[in-house]
Amino acid sequence: MSNEKTILLGVSGGIAAYKSAELVRALRSDGYRVQAVMTRAATKFITPLTLASLTGNRVITDLFADLSADETLTSSVAHIEVAQASDLMLVAPATADILAKFALGLADDFLSTAHLAFTGPLVLAPAMNTRMWEHPATRENLAVLRSRGAVVVEPGSGELACGTVGRGRLADSEPIVAAVRDALRFRGDMHGECVLITAGPTREALDPVRYLSNRSSGRMGFALAEEAARRGARVILIAGPVALPTPQGCERVDVESAQEMHDTAIERLPDASIAVMAAAVADYRPSTPSGRKIKKRDGPPGIHLEETPDILRAVAQRKGSRFVIGFAAETHDLESNARSKLRSKGCDLVVANPVGGSTGFETEFNQGLVLGATGEVHRLETMTKTSMAARIFDFAVRYRRRAAA
Ligand code: CTP
Repeated sequence: MSNEKTILLGVSGGIAAYKSAELVRALRSDGYRVQAVMTRAATKFITPLTLASLTGNRVITDLFADLSADETLTSSVAHIEVAQASDLMLVAPATADILAKFALGLADDFLSTAHLAFTGPLVLAPAMNTRMWEHPATRENLAVLRSRGAVVVEPGSGELACGTVGRGRLADSEPIVAAVRDALRFRGDMHGECVLITAGPTREALDPVRYLSNRSSGRMGFALAEEAARRGARVILIAGPVALPTPQGCERVDVESAQEMHDTAIERLPDASIAVMAAAVADYRPSTPSGRKIKKRDGPPGIHLEETPDILRAVAQRKGSRFVIGFAAETHDLESNARSKLRSKGCDLVVANPVGGSTGFETEFNQGLVLGATGEVHRLETMTKTSMAARIFDFAVRYRRRAAA
């Protein structure tokens, strides 16, 4: 089986460089082509011939080497050619030194120069002595690289070459190859999209200190936001009151009531190409919230309720060429209730999930059905909300491509 993707494997100079041989085997058996680039220090730990034999490709060790012998590398700008010909850059092991060079943008050897010339996904598998790993300089360099989108496969703990025991051992080949697979899979397939997402519960005021709300944690909507950003979309996340950090790369607008969520969604809709209404919006609100705290001495208050605006319906009515995804939280008759919501609210896709059991509200897990407006039904077994977010956008991307074809 061939994945027909080329991995630019950078090997920098630490004792774990010898493990790159096993890593090459794992990448090759997953079907990837591997172009190895070794720093000068790396060649002290493992010979280029070893990696050349395992990759089946010439190994690059020098920025100024005469590469004319290799038909695929024809000029003195080989670092640009190699960068352009690669789908992903993996550095394993990544030493503290190479992380610092990448963070600063230095370019004084082939690997660091190719890094600057490379625009695809970057996966880093650091390995070093525990103190070097914990040093604030290394922590800061990693934070900078992460903020630019690099995926870091964290080192494990164990006995290190220096004789100490601690954090810093190169991760096993399996998680490194899995990170490569994920980074390639999600590479930019939502690039150019702008996704508007509502998430979390809303609060409907009874008086200045009390409100009506529900059990939504916001996790599903936040997982969707994180996933869309990871796949290259711009994300506007309209969040009800939740205790969750903002996913990386997302613009977050905090709101409280259904009315505020509605007004913000309608205001921001013109920017969006995809709208995902994942919030658990309160259906009713007190029609005349008290301006003052309701006092006990007045006896139990009669609460008169009125409907909140249906945000999903309002968005779908203005959808134009946008793709609109709704959710249906149901305790019973999942498929039939979800299908009627799909129709009545005017969505392109509805994600139906059962609530009231061990999945759904307030949990890490979810399950359910994805229903398309053209009649298709897909079952989603119990999985994390992160995996579910990935599956939902897999469907959305596929349906949109099909609609555009
Ligand atoms: N929704 C919304 N605005 C509302 C109510 C719901 O945008 N005022 C959206 C939700 O975000 C979800 C979908 O509508 O995407 C369905 O929500 P759900 O609570 O399952 O359905 P309801 O329309 O409230 O219907 P019911 O309570 O009868 O199941």
